[in-house]
Amino acid sequence: MIQQTLTIIKPECVAKHHIGDILQRIEKADFKILAIRMVRLQSQEAQQFYLIHKDRPFYQELVQYMCSGKVVVMVLEKDNCVEAFRKFIGSTNPKDAAPGTIRKDFGTDIQNNCVHASDSPENAQKEIAFFFSAKEIILNQ
Ligand code: CMP
Repeated sequence: MIQQTLTIIKPECVAKHHIGDILQRIEKADFKILAIRMVRLQSQEAQQFYLIHKDRPFYQELVQYMCSGKVVVMVLEKDNCVEAFRKFIGSTNPKDAAPGTIRKDFGTDIQNNCVHASDSPENAQKEIAFFFSAKEIILNQ
């Protein structure tokens, strides 16, 4: 089933000029980029985006980190996209990620783990709507 997911290239990868490498790998793996934007998140936006983790000990640090520099947000499309993209990027902690995955190659630790990816189709729809209007996505399909 054709599905969409949301991904965010995190501040460290943007600062280290890895955007091009990451986009190339995503496209080569046949994920279609439906929408893309570079943004600097405000604290309230990052807090809202990661609200699901609000009771986790790393929440404040994660919010601070995601606001520390520009990020690139994207909507991707592919068959079984949410699961396929999570497999493609590798485990949350780059140390545990499989060789050849972008988290292994561009991530440094569990916080600076290269990219965020939606963890379920339901959350993907919510996260996409957080950054992009339906019009932007439909026009690009
Ligand atoms: P992401 O896919 O953006 O979703 C939530 C983020 O929380 C996750 O990637 C990690 O960067 C971060 N995270 C998850 N677990 C931990 C942890 N134990 N310590 C610090 N950060 C974490």
